[in-house]
Amino acid sequence: MENLDALKSELSGMIKSAADGDALEQIRVSALGKKGQITALMKGLGQMDPKERKAAGQQLNVLKQEIADQIDARKDELENAGLDTRLAKEKIDVTLPVRPEQMGTIHPISQTTDELISIFGEMGFVVAEGPSIEEDWYNFTALNIPVDHPARQEHDTFYINAEKEGQRMVLRTHTSPVQIRTMQSQKPPIRIIVPGRTYRCDHDATHSPMFHQIEGLVIDEATHMGHLKGCLIEMCRAFFGMDELPVRFRPSYFPFTEPSAEVDIGCAFGDGTLKIGEGDDWLEILGSGMVNPNVLENCGIDSTKYQGFAFGMGIERMAMLKYGIPDLRTFYDSDMRWLKHYGFQPLDVPSLVGRAGL
Ligand code: PHE
Repeated sequence: MENLDALKSELSGMIKSAADGDALEQIRVSALGKKGQITALMKGLGQMDPKERKAAGQQLNVLKQEIADQIDARKDELENAGLDTRLAKEKIDVTLPVRPEQMGTIHPISQTTDELISIFGEMGFVVAEGPSIEEDWYNFTALNIPVDHPARQEHDTFYINAEKEGQRMVLRTHTSPVQIRTMQSQKPPIRIIVPGRTYRCDHDATHSPMFHQIEGLVIDEATHMGHLKGCLIEMCRAFFGMDELPVRFRPSYFPFTEPSAEVDIGCAFGDGTLKIGEGDDWLEILGSGMVNPNVLENCGIDSTKYQGFAFGMGIERMAMLKYGIPDLRTFYDSDMRWLKHYGFQPLDVPSLVGRAGL
């Protein structure tokens, strides 16, 4: 068995210089395969006398293992090298200009969301988010909508066949549960804006089972209706880019706010067209109100010390009004012609700076 060292260095040399997986496989077969060199030596053990056989058997097993390990290591090396060359070859220079015919656009929902976030961002609001699949308690009960409350029926809820710690799960019907999650996890003062998907079991020309809302919440020690009005009037005028846009607050009802108000903007309906900021008609765009003390208490916030306001609006509706998009359903069709027409340039980042009139 003296020639084992020579065999080992011969095989090692071949493994090291194997150029690809096929060459390596050939070496494996010629050494460890059925008719391989090492296999043949192992077969020869039977003819040896028992004393020699034991030592030789051990040596051969060690050699066999070493060669198998070396082959595996070289295989990894070759595979990684393949990946490295592919990575180097398939590099994409993201700074290259896009060919105009291939240019994608920003969806009006994303654009409108970014515009609203930018407006509220300037007022000191920060973005908060929450889950689409929500516990019944967050979506309803904590928002002062108890089990037998009529508002539950109005929400056309999608219920889910699942429970979490005894709580029935729903697809959130509004972004308001994020108010609760935020008040539980943060101490006042709070000033958040919550964009996100919402779901209601309703489908026609003006309703989609999935749509988007943006929610606002302010909690502090001296907040009043004047702050709510100032904030929302400012938002409407900045969003539609009209300094004189008429904004009206109309008494309304939501279980989670008291008092509550719906917000309308001035417009003119006529000859089948809608003109915002002109005429004697009104168009509802927002729900709002002072946070109901019950809601604060449900979140462990002292309602004798703190109060605040909240508001919520539909993002599709805001986009349709601002950009003259007539049909809600087209938002979700992924029609390239529609996207080209109503979409926005990717680098046209919304900001108040540079907006007309400012
Ligand atoms: N959650 C309400 C809705 O979906 C909107 C709203 C939010 C109203 C916050 C008042 C305060 O209709």
